Amino acid sequence: GLIIATALAGGYLCGTIPFGLIFARLFGLGDIRKIGSGNIGATNALRTGNKPMAALTLAGDILKGTVPVLIAGALWGNLPAAVAGLGAFLGHLFPVWLGFKGGKGVATYLGIVLGIAPIGVLIFAAVWLSVAYLSRYSSLAALAATLVLPPAYFVLGLEMAGMLTTVLTLLVYIKHHANIRRLLSGEEGKIGAKG
Ligand code: G3P
Repeated sequence: GLIIATALAGGYLCGTIPFGLIFARLFGLGDIRKIGSGNIGATNALRTGNKPMAALTLAGDILKGTVPVLIAGALWGNLPAAVAGLGAFLGHLFPVWLGFKGGKGVATYLGIVLGIAPIGVLIFAAVWLSVAYLSRYSSLAALAATLVLPPAYFVLGLEMAGMLTTVLTLLVYIKHHANIRRLLSGEEGKIGAKG
C-alpha cells in the first residue's frame, strides 16, 4: 500500500515537470501554450522553429517517464515500477501546477516503455517513424504507434507492459480528441509546419 502510493506520487511529481514550457521560456520563445496547437510537447516545440529546444523538450519528457520507472523498479520491483510509470504519465497529462492542463503524453509514453520493457521502443519507433514519414502528421504517428504496442506486448508475453500500455493508450486517445477531429477534417498541422 505505502510503496504503491509512494511510487504513484513520486512518478506523478516527476511527470508534472513541464519541460516544453520551461525550455521555451529559457530560450526566450515565450509561452509555448500560445504557439501552434497550444500543446506543451515536442511536436509543438518544433513549431517555434527552434530545433534544439524541441529536442530538449523531447529528451526531458522521455526521461521523466524513464527515471521514475527505473528508480521504483530498482527499489521495489516490477509492479511499483509500472505504477510509477502510470504516475509519471498522469503527471504529464494532468499537472497540478498548470491547472491540470498538461501534454498529450507521447514522449513520456515512450520513456515509460523504455523503462518497463525496452523492446517496445523498437516497435513504437518503427511504427511512429513510418507513419510520420508517410503522412507528416505527428499525431497520426502517435495514434498508430500507441495502438500497435499493447497487443504487441501481449503477443511477446510481456503482460504487465501490455496492461500498462493499454491504459496509457486509452489516455493518449482521449488527449488527442482535437487532433483526431482535425485529422478527419483535413485540418491537422503537419510536422514542422507553423501552426
Ligand atoms: O506528441 C503530441 C502529438 O501527437 C500532437 O501534438 O502539438 O500537434 O497537438 P500537437
